Amino acid sequence: PLVPTGELVSRAAAAHGCVPAFNVITLEHAEAIADGAQAAGRPVILQISENAVRYHGGRLAPLARATAAVAEASEVELALHLDHATDMELVRQAADNGFSSVMFDAGALPHDRNVAATAEAARWAHEAGLWLEAELGYVGGKPDAPASAHAAGVRTDPAEAADYVARTGVDALAVAVGSSHAMTERTASLDHALISRLRGRVPVPLVLHGSSGVPDEDLRRAVESGMAKVNIGTALNVAFTGAVRGVLDAESSLTDPRKYLTPAREAVAKTVGTLLAVLPAGR
Ligand code: G3H
Ligand code: ZN
Repeated sequence: PLVPTGELVSRAAAAHGCVPAFNVITLEHAEAIADGAQAAGRPVILQISENAVRYHGGRLAPLARATAAVAEASEVELALHLDHATDMELVRQAADNGFSSVMFDAGALPHDRNVAATAEAARWAHEAGLWLEAELGYVGGKPDAPASAHAAGVRTDPAEAADYVARTGVDALAVAVGSSHAMTERTASLDHALISRLRGRVPVPLVLHGSSGVPDEDLRRAVESGMAKVNIGTALNVAFTGAVRGVLDAESSLTDPRKYLTPAREAVAKTVGTLLAVLPAGR
């Protein structure tokens, strides 16, 4: 069934575990993530980023409604989240298209304007019944991302994070602790002491972005020290595209997309399963 994101994250946080959030770009991603989650018997979040909406010509509804339909048909609990939204117009469309949550990304704004814009987004989101996540610090690494107000690699300061949450009223906070977006090798090293200090100061669930580049052991430790939502995109695309490339390299005259999308979907489902085995669900 399709369930609210806030419910999954709160439950994971209370259990000292995490709910993984996987990025959906195509319908095949949504199907694969649902298949992987169902095989593991674990709830997960299906998230569609503003960049993915741009890829679909700015159309939010078709992919969102199809993804919500995949979730409704699933035996495990799945939630639908709008990821890295900078455009309030898109946020406003979220509630009508199956989303129960949004990550509002004001990271490109100077701090005071970030606080004001995020507080406004949180107020609006709560009125619309949406759970709202924001980011403080700079995870970085997103191709085509607007320049951040923070220098690349700037980590989240615990006292500033506590103040930011108090002033904005957000429901969850994405923090910069050493990961970076779009890594195809798992060479990131996380600052676990900082995660613990953030967990001690920030009263809402913490979110890890750019998790594709984080090795298994660091992912486990990050959840144990307080990351309740773990965002994974690139790792699925490495699997997807690798499978497509393998089929097309072997058969250059192939034309039916189903011949390469079927193995791509299976590869993504398998990667979801592998990651779910690493990421603790909690007690
Ligand atoms: O918001 C999405 C995530 O932070 C995904 O990051 O593609 O590096 O795994 P990733
Ligand atoms: Zn992210």
